[in-house]
Amino acid sequence: MSHIARFKVAPFPLEMHKARIVQKINLLPIKERLKAIQEAGNNTFLLRNRDVFLDMLTDSGTNAMSNEQIAAMSIADDAYAGSETFYRLENTVNHFFGTKFFLPAHQGRACEHILAKTYVKPGDVIPMNYHFTTTKAHIMECGGLVEECFLDEAVKTTSNCLFKGDMDMDKLKAIINKVGKDHIPFIRIELGTNLIGGQPISMRSIKEVSAFAKKEGLFVVTDASLLADNLYFIKAREKEYKDVDTLTIVREIAACSDIIYFSARKLGCARGGGFAIRDKRFFDDMKALVPLFEGFLTYGGMSVREMEAMSVGIMETLDMDMISQGPEFISEFATMLQKEGIPIVTPAGGLGLHINAREFLPHIKDEEYPAGVLATAIYIVSGVRGMERGTISEARNPDGSEHIASVELVRLALPRRVFTLSHITFLTDRLAWLYKNRDLIGGLKFTEEPKVLRFFIGRLGEIGDWQERLMAKFIEDFGEDAL
Ligand SMILES: Cc1ncc(COP(=O)(O)O)c(C=O)c1O
Repeated sequence: MSHIARFKVAPFPLEMHKARIVQKINLLPIKERLKAIQEAGNNTFLLRNRDVFLDMLTDSGTNAMSNEQIAAMSIADDAYAGSETFYRLENTVNHFFGTKFFLPAHQGRACEHILAKTYVKPGDVIPMNYHFTTTKAHIMECGGLVEECFLDEAVKTTSNCLFKGDMDMDKLKAIINKVGKDHIPFIRIELGTNLIGGQPISMRSIKEVSAFAKKEGLFVVTDASLLADNLYFIKAREKEYKDVDTLTIVREIAACSDIIYFSARKLGCARGGGFAIRDKRFFDDMKALVPLFEGFLTYGGMSVREMEAMSVGIMETLDMDMISQGPEFISEFATMLQKEGIPIVTPAGGLGLHINAREFLPHIKDEEYPAGVLATAIYIVSGVRGMERGTISEARNPDGSEHIASVELVRLALPRRVFTLSHITFLTDRLAWLYKNRDLIGGLKFTEEPKVLRFFIGRLGEIGDWQERLMAKFIEDFGEDAL
């Protein structure tokens, strides 16, 4: 956001947009909230949205669209093959990234599916700054392994490191030496590393990885789903880029990547995804899988209306007023929670506010899932739906033992341009109450545990009756009728 003059007030995130369409939301009584979360197997993914007050599960496909995006939907050209909508999108993506080729897919994980099927074989290892759940699942489905090369600072929840998403080059070199280049199909860079709190990678690190990969004859795949936040952070935190325009920064990132893929549920505030590619070799490697898994090459499983919205949304990512809103709003929320002494991930990142569940609930063992527990407790006391990003989100080790996550976080996603300061004031107040009463909170255990991506549809049960006791304390403090 540009510098806004203020007379008396401290800096605050000022929205450079206004709401013209709104959706009514309901806050259920606490007894109904408890029933809803228990019926959902204590998994916030399984709650019905009608039972949710503020839906902070994810920023994926839930960002507010602009009026320009909605308007663009009405000019969509509907054709199975060769629609004008596709060519507009192809031009936009290639202009944005400075690439030559575009392959459409219905969302980010669909790109990961095609990428893994094309390049990963059993015994391969894919080094990356940090994994994402669906990325890792697709690589493992193809018999590959993920090796993370993150900075030690990345998993320190309280830190002054401005680019926790940077690649640790010593770890990267060590992995390549250990497994040999023949078993490294590519190096993956994730922008705005999701699972460690939406933390950015610096341009310095991106360039370093790219130069190293070139020297070693390896190729680089960049997951640009969270590019909008990362772009903001490069401009705001990396001195050399303060005065560089956003399009130049995007193209510099892209120039360091052989294949770029993205979820347009995040980048572009629509629902879709795709690849941007410079070298025809990679396009040819993957293109046959698009009609097989996604849809014809000119729609890739997306509706043409969404494709039009995506073209506009991608270009709006170049507007600092647009991309600063999320990170600045999250930073304000972080400051409010810190004033209450609530342990959060610092520096605040993109896509959402991240609470450090291990510190919030030091009495809960990792095997009883502190982040999962905290997500259910937050729903019970506030009706707000967050997401567990900890051990439940990890896959078990091949021997069946728990893979304890490096960080146990509850993510309160802040879909772009959706919530207001009064919403986070409400939530800060509830979190402060919960923090004061945290000793009442107990553990969870799996009652139904799927083998793959268990966090999506797995069900858990409370250990003991802590949820009923938490509700009783809420009623004691606020009264029977309080919402
Ligand atoms: C970094 C990253 N990569 C990939 C994906 C998968 O995208 P999608 O949800 O569109 O399948 C996500 C979604 O959250 C993400 O954050």
